[in-house]
Amino acid sequence: MGRLVVVSNRVSLSGGSPGGMAVALTGALKESGGFWFGWSGERTERFTGAIRTQRIGDVDVATIDLEEADYQEYYNGYANGALWPLFHYRIDLTAYDRSYGVGYERVNRRFADALAPLLRPDDLIWVHDYHLIPLGQELRRRGITNPIGFFLHIPWPAPELLTTLPRHRQLVEALFAYDLVGFQTDEWLRAFEDYVMREAGGRRGGGRVSAFGRSVVAQAFPIGLDVEEFLALCETEAAIRSYDRMAAHSVFRAMMIGVERLDYAKGLEERLLGYEQFLADNPELAGKVFYLQIAPLSREEVDAYQQVRARIWSLAGRINADWGDIDFAPMRCLTQNYSRAQLAGVYRAARVGLVTPLRDGMNLVAKEYVAAQDPEDPGVLILSRFAGAAREMTEAVIVNPFSREELAEAMRRALTMELRERRRRWEALMSGLRENDVNVWRDSFVVALRAAADPSFRHSEQPRLPRTVSVGDDGEEAASPPAAAAGREAQARRI
Ligand code: G6P
Repeated sequence: MGRLVVVSNRVSLSGGSPGGMAVALTGALKESGGFWFGWSGERTERFTGAIRTQRIGDVDVATIDLEEADYQEYYNGYANGALWPLFHYRIDLTAYDRSYGVGYERVNRRFADALAPLLRPDDLIWVHDYHLIPLGQELRRRGITNPIGFFLHIPWPAPELLTTLPRHRQLVEALFAYDLVGFQTDEWLRAFEDYVMREAGGRRGGGRVSAFGRSVVAQAFPIGLDVEEFLALCETEAAIRSYDRMAAHSVFRAMMIGVERLDYAKGLEERLLGYEQFLADNPELAGKVFYLQIAPLSREEVDAYQQVRARIWSLAGRINADWGDIDFAPMRCLTQNYSRAQLAGVYRAARVGLVTPLRDGMNLVAKEYVAAQDPEDPGVLILSRFAGAAREMTEAVIVNPFSREELAEAMRRALTMELRERRRRWEALMSGLRENDVNVWRDSFVVALRAAADPSFRHSEQPRLPRTVSVGDDGEEAASPPAAAAGREAQARRI
């Protein structure tokens, strides 16, 4: 069995504490002797293509630096100024500048140029997220015939929105260079298929989507939590310390917690307005509740992020001014970064978890909040119906985050919910987390990728599949087998 090669814009192992997905991929990388490839996060004056290899923990990592124009046009521009808002249904915030698209394609070529010589004939390549949609196509152009899979972590927009993007056809066509394209939920998968059928005259059937003279296996793979890893984090010294700090406050006031990057897609403004409404509607509860929002700054050079930050700060200031007292503030909004262990303690101390994005691929904070709870006295998750997680986590209190009244009612309901109901909901949520954990996600993607690239592959080591995922038909329309140019093996550098 070949190596697994993971490619993403950022290599989540370098810097900070790795998230659950990174932990799961690290395990698979380690086992297969593979490596993780991506941008170092560093900017240089001129792009050199030099590859830096290092070992982080037990995993080999290869990174390249990008130059300033790459950072502006590819990262801030096309990825986070165009695709991110568009894919989160915000065409009002989407930047359609042509130079951004040019930079995006250039960086994808640069990724391919740097990565191709590192590959061996039997490697399995797994590309992650919207920054790298054209990478598979660029690798194919360089003669790479290995199985290549792509997983989109964010939503896929409805065709009516996607067609506002110049060169949308090229973007979608690029996905057909992969053997397997994965989405977080059936909803995003359907939106992709709708585009292919309506705009590209394609068709679907047997788990495959065909257009542009090619076909690709397309499936939903809802990402899960590494439940065991997270439960172990909850037992750490750091988690217990932060729990104790928060619990001291929570004796007097029930805490509601929100944790996310400061991003307009997360519905923070709407949530604050909902909290304001809650305070107005429930004056008797006002002094008994405390809302903690942790929102580290993100993508600060992008205009829309600066604007949403200013609006959130002003709203938080207004809420504290209107509803606070000389010895009491109804909320606190922090931009500091906390480790996942510290957050685990904070989640456990919170009576309510607020996860109310306007649109979200999945949202793992919702899952972490649930996993962190005390089984004897669990808190309540309020979850946006527009988060991918709402498809599985139906026992949460589901809300429409665009409605401040609905948010306010959900807060009241969650804060006053009886222990019996809290436990019933939590147990159901927790068993869902265990059933569809991150290992199931990873294994089902890898198995499906092998099958998609090689029709003779029979699911001999088939793992348990998540409830919402069906296995694609591996007998139809063979894509390129995992063959390889013989000379490349000798060339492939061990990193
Ligand atoms: C989302 C994306 C990731 C991205 C992360 C942080 O979760 O799906 O691909 O890495 O946000 O954003 P940043 O721009 O800081 O990498």
